[in-house]
Amino acid sequence: MNELVTKEIDGYLANSSMIRKMFEAGIELRKKYGAENVYDFSLGNPDVPPPSAVKAALKEIAEHADEPFAIGYMPNAGYPATREALAKKVSEEQATQVPAANIVVTCGAAGAINVLFRAVLSDGDEVICPSPYFVEYGFYAGNFGGKLVPVPTKLPDFTLDIAAIDAAITPKTRAVIVNSPNNPTGQIYSREELAALAEVLKKHSEKNGRAIYLVSDEPYRALNFDGVEIPSVFSVYPAAVVIGSFSKTLSLAGERIGYVAVNPALEGAEKLMAALILTNRILGFVNAPAIAQKVLQTALDSQVDIDIYRKRRALMADVLTNAGVEFMMPKGAFYFFAKSPVEDERIFVEALLNEHVLAVPGRGFGLPGYIRLAFCVEDSTIINSRDAFKRAVDSLAK
Ligand SMILES: Cc1ncc(COP(=O)(O)O)c(C=O)c1O
Repeated sequence: MNELVTKEIDGYLANSSMIRKMFEAGIELRKKYGAENVYDFSLGNPDVPPPSAVKAALKEIAEHADEPFAIGYMPNAGYPATREALAKKVSEEQATQVPAANIVVTCGAAGAINVLFRAVLSDGDEVICPSPYFVEYGFYAGNFGGKLVPVPTKLPDFTLDIAAIDAAITPKTRAVIVNSPNNPTGQIYSREELAALAEVLKKHSEKNGRAIYLVSDEPYRALNFDGVEIPSVFSVYPAAVVIGSFSKTLSLAGERIGYVAVNPALEGAEKLMAALILTNRILGFVNAPAIAQKVLQTALDSQVDIDIYRKRRALMADVLTNAGVEFMMPKGAFYFFAKSPVEDERIFVEALLNEHVLAVPGRGFGLPGYIRLAFCVEDSTIINSRDAFKRAVDSLAK
């Protein structure tokens, strides 16, 4: 019998993601007990409506959709006007003058990371990431022969363990990818942490004779509930690359729109830009979606109503406190990474499932002993899960 897929992909399929398993369990439970009796916190699919500027932009785009090239091919890096608009935004966020030439518009943050890794990773190169982490990073690095090296963060608040990252760097380290606000922990890294990380990377880059990239994956930048500073990586480290996305900021997750921005302070940045434009093309993305790029030209300064998420964060905190579950209040993004009352969090997830509550085991993000709860669900789902949560925790004490 011929092998239909590679051994590598076959292995991935065999270990199919825990989020996916929960997704399937959710479908079954809803069928059996009705959607209103299932409390699904397993998926990070933003449900807050896009801001009105998105609808207005789409109407305007539709008005002109019968013109030649309205939705045609464009330069691989994106529409010049979209790159200009993004450059202005990134310049403000990064407190650095970033030209449009340093932006490539991509198919989401996921597309952006793949485009970057395709350009910079060679076989066997290592990418360090603080753990727990967004599991897709491992696949993205693997797509191009790279290897993800997770390095635990400091407990209980999931801050960067700079000494551990320092110790994990080898001559093969090509990049460190940090995600702030963080999925799954909700932590936002401080200026001091990032500056300390930058010092470590400078030291090793010099020793290794090639730059170690600092990749800052920031799709949740707008979801910052307490107004804490989300520091600029461009200000602290020349070989820095920012990844952005509008999946969460504008609730456009299905439209696949994001960008990669390169620090103008990077020596030889033009070469990296040329490479990113090429990899965007040859990976088959060709360019980011035309409609979404046009939406950005007018809707870029809008964002979803984060008060909705802020309120849900408070509701979820109340549910967890009531159940006696320990957690760190997330500063950003829309997840709680809560401590399991029993060592093996899969037992906790099972107990929650018995009460029709869906959560993802922390080991799915590289840290057993915790569960992830996504609070991008209706208020009523959170409120109505209160008793179920308590019963699940109480059942473990018996
Ligand atoms: C940390 C992180 N990075 C990247 C992505 C991918 O986002 P996008 O939809 O922009 O590809 C996600 C999506 O959930 C994420 O959580």
